[in-house]
Amino acid sequence: MEPRPETMISTLPEHPIVSDESSLEARIEYAIDSLMASLPDPEQLSAEQRRSLIARYTAVLEGNFIYWMTGAYLAAKTEAARSIIAEKLHEEVRDSHPAMLRRFALAAQAMPTESDVMAVHRRLTSVRLFVGRLRGVQLIVMMAFFEGFIQKFMGFLGRLGTRQGSLEQEYTDVHGVCDIAHTRELFRALAAEIAARPAEPDANLFEGVELLRGLIEAIVFGTEAKSQRTQATAVS
Ligand SMILES: [Fe+2]
Repeated sequence: MEPRPETMISTLPEHPIVSDESSLEARIEYAIDSLMASLPDPEQLSAEQRRSLIARYTAVLEGNFIYWMTGAYLAAKTEAARSIIAEKLHEEVRDSHPAMLRRFALAAQAMPTESDVMAVHRRLTSVRLFVGRLRGVQLIVMMAFFEGFIQKFMGFLGRLGTRQGSLEQEYTDVHGVCDIAHTRELFRALAAEIAARPAEPDANLFEGVELLRGLIEAIVFGTEAKSQRTQATAVS
């Protein structure tokens, strides 16, 4: 698999009505489906490509998912949205989802190395800074996209683990099922936030989605690793 150049990371299609929940939901689902359609065939990946992809996914998800969902909780203004997000956080913490993901990566012999971490560093930082701005609607839109993507991505991730010789599938099994309901709940949280405080007419509600999609593309294709190595070679 050849890493895709940065220029191939496309922007999301415009939609004429951006503040209506149903059209937001349709755009989020379209963004998820187009990202899923861009995934490589797991059977065509080398062992190192499989390992590094799982490692980059782990480097991003293990330490950030609960933190970003906490950001959405802090940014939400309505009690309805906060209670939905709090329920999700409760499940993440109670069932130790980061420990589940760590077990998956260990069993696939795919714990992140420094190189794996650096391959997603720049795009991860962009998402972290976006989360830190604590914009309720935009952040819930991003997390709804994230949940929906993770749910559909689990079949792909599970196949990578299996081809790595791993039998550990709890993480992918749990997230392939429970995130369907989570995504729906996040859309309800989004509707509550929009009803309480409509976004500015010119606000880009997909800013977080665009940043996160770039990060997921770096997870899948490892583009940053190549560009950073190229830059390092150029300046040395
Ligand atoms: Fe989780």
